[in-house]
Amino acid sequence: MSALQGSVAVVTGAGRGLGAALAICLADAGCTLVLCGRDQQALAGVAGTIEQRTGMQADCVVLNLADTASVSQAVESITSRHPALDILVNNGAMWLEADEQGYSADAVSGVINAAVTGTYLFTQGLLPTLRRSARPDILTIGSISALPNAALQGVSVPFYAAKQAQRALAEGLSQQLAGTPVRSLCVHPPYLDDVSPTEPAWEAAAQRQKGERGTNRDVVEAVLFALTRPRHVSLSSIVIDSDEGGLFG
Ligand SMILES: NC(=O)c1ccc[n+]([C@@H]2O[C@H](COP(=O)([O-])OP(=O)(O)OC[C@H]3O[C@@H](n4cnc5c(N)ncnc54)[C@H](OP(=O)(O)O)[C@@H]3O)[C@@H](O)[C@H]2O)c1
Repeated sequence: MSALQGSVAVVTGAGRGLGAALAICLADAGCTLVLCGRDQQALAGVAGTIEQRTGMQADCVVLNLADTASVSQAVESITSRHPALDILVNNGAMWLEADEQGYSADAVSGVINAAVTGTYLFTQGLLPTLRRSARPDILTIGSISALPNAALQGVSVPFYAAKQAQRALAEGLSQQLAGTPVRSLCVHPPYLDDVSPTEPAWEAAAQRQKGERGTNRDVVEAVLFALTRPRHVSLSSIVIDSDEGGLFG
């Protein structure tokens, strides 16, 4: 039986890309899923995939991390339906590509608010419910852009700053929660090929050779590894490295 069987997992940005892959694989591992994201239809699509594969019904909660009112509503909706939560995966973050022309105020505040303010408030709001679990974990998806002295190449300064702050959130939580059962874990992916567990590309991804680009599968496997370590082991920073540096482009 999977070590995660029966756990309740919340995943942000679960409607597509890495978040959807994480949600599907956590469900495959026996978790009940709470899928959060801005696009209800996309969440329903992922919930349908999960039901098809596992027979389990996933909960879908609309969440815009850049909007504090939406964060409060999502926290209220989740905590009113789930008396305990075991896993929170902070995956949702707005991407912003480098642009020499600069950025609108909305673009900058969206990137910063989603990754930092919204992610922090969402985590803070769910923390009392996570504390009711016997095995609570907060897992943050960082980035190689989040690492100290990371190369900026191809990434906008606001996104770079937001990701650096996400690493600080994960590290700060780890210090704040030391001595409690809650672990704060963080996985830093390189630039990824977006493959889904529902596609043949998922199987092929496991056969990639050294020097090839990373995929969602590599991140999902690192996340599952971190979550299934014995409780005294906190993998507070897993960096997924690659020969070409994993840089955008
Ligand atoms: N893909 C890569 O190469 C790569 C590399 C390093 C790190 N990462 C990190 O991995 C995570 C997932 O990336 P990805 O490549 O799958 O997705 P992505 O294409 O960068 O999209 C971002 C994800 O976050 C969600 N999101 C964006 N803004 C949001 C908001 N305001 N509120 C709630 N959710 C929001 C999106 O959902 P909706 O737009 O559907 O709401 C989507 O699921 C992100 O944290 C990203 O920074 C990705």
